[in-house]
Amino acid sequence: MKITTTKQKGVTKIVFTENGTARFVERGTATQLEIPAGKGNAMTLRKARSTIRKAIRTAKSHKLQTIEIAFADTAWMGISTLGDAERAALVAENAVLAAFDFTEFKSKKEDEYPRTLVISGVSGAAVKKAISRAAILAEQVNACRRLANTPGGDMTPKKLAAAARKAAKGLPIRVSVWGKQALVREKMGAVLGVAQGSKAEPQFIIMRYDGGKKGDRPLVLVGKGVTFDTGGLNLKPGEGMLGMHHDMAGGAAVIHAIIAAAKLKLKRNIVVLVPAVENSPSGESFRPGDILKSRSGKTIEVMNTDAEGRLILADALDYAKKYKPSMVIDVATLTGASLIALGEHASAIFAPERALLEEIYQHGESSGDYVWPLPLWDELEQHVKGTFADVANLPPNWNSRYAGASIAAMFLKQFVPADTPWVHIDMAPRMLAGAHDQLGKGATGEPVRLLVRLAESR
Ligand code: BES
Ligand code: ZN
Ligand code: ZN
Repeated sequence: MKITTTKQKGVTKIVFTENGTARFVERGTATQLEIPAGKGNAMTLRKARSTIRKAIRTAKSHKLQTIEIAFADTAWMGISTLGDAERAALVAENAVLAAFDFTEFKSKKEDEYPRTLVISGVSGAAVKKAISRAAILAEQVNACRRLANTPGGDMTPKKLAAAARKAAKGLPIRVSVWGKQALVREKMGAVLGVAQGSKAEPQFIIMRYDGGKKGDRPLVLVGKGVTFDTGGLNLKPGEGMLGMHHDMAGGAAVIHAIIAAAKLKLKRNIVVLVPAVENSPSGESFRPGDILKSRSGKTIEVMNTDAEGRLILADALDYAKKYKPSMVIDVATLTGASLIALGEHASAIFAPERALLEEIYQHGESSGDYVWPLPLWDELEQHVKGTFADVANLPPNWNSRYAGASIAAMFLKQFVPADTPWVHIDMAPRMLAGAHDQLGKGATGEPVRLLVRLAESR
């Protein structure tokens, strides 16, 4: 979708109304599309986002080619506190996100609707720049959604690595990819253990962007790249397995966050690490009771092969040390428990430091990738101690359903050095868009915007 501030012919104007239902109204010779937005004074930034999206989704369903949103009309958005550039960016970003549908596997190519969005009644270099930056960011969110939506048969670890390479082409990003041999050399026994049951070779994807000063400690982003999670020998039941090609959504998000950072020329050093595996049952699979030797040297007792995400992340988090990071953030579709706790409305965040939680929460609100904290109490540590190994991927002596999201976070904490600022984002709640999101079906592309916002801010 093209976004412009220049008036065009043959447009359908979008008009926001206080109430009613979405409908077309004739105004002289022109047709307008009315979108109910509620009372202006009850509008919030959060509601403004979904209202813009609703307008675009409605326009799309009616196959409108060119639509116009009058900038003055966006004043109702309770976002009058935002400057012109920020408000235009909000409209542009959400329009690009709402226009996206995953159509790669449809045999009939559909025309693009809407093709052009005119944001009228506003101009100036700052506004134009803000719109173009918002569009660049939203395009990367959509590219992330495209990756995450790709079926497991078409998105193997190797294909994920190839996608990362392709996305980085022409940008100042160095990409290296390790295969099985290098993983053995690096002693990444946890990644290798999970990958063991699959024909697909595991990959470890490393991306590096140096937009900051030489020697500035990088922000390290770690993403879970399970290209399909069957559960392994602890096989998932049918309805739990459907959708598990999205289990690399964290990996896709960190890949496209660093791409966005490079495209936006952020002055920040960033490293991305994605352990990519398929978790499959076979005669060669790792088994419940197996003990894996992780890169850190810690041995891990496998209580359940379906708690595989924390295993591959353990090796990646340990490897992150190498970069002497200013901060480590991992992003993973880690637990069903976080989805049970929060519903589909926010990703769960965990950090030993409260100030960091608050910071990430604020970036969530301002970026639109909402997050909410869950506890990481010291008392939980006893539940990740192993009986026959150093640690266990599920509590050996406790109901493994209790505090599931926090236990997973506590397991990860065992592999992060105490002096490294670290945040864990369990994005299982935001793996798929819900009806309230006003987005096309499938992946949300979160938390790309949050990560970029954070990289911009520090
Ligand atoms: N990838 C899943 C978590 C998940 C579930 C993400 C549903 C999105 C939606 C993860 O690897 C997993 O299987 N976790 C288990 C842990 C259990 C064995 C303690 C879970 O959450 O059920
Ligand atoms: Zn699993
Ligand atoms: Zn998983």
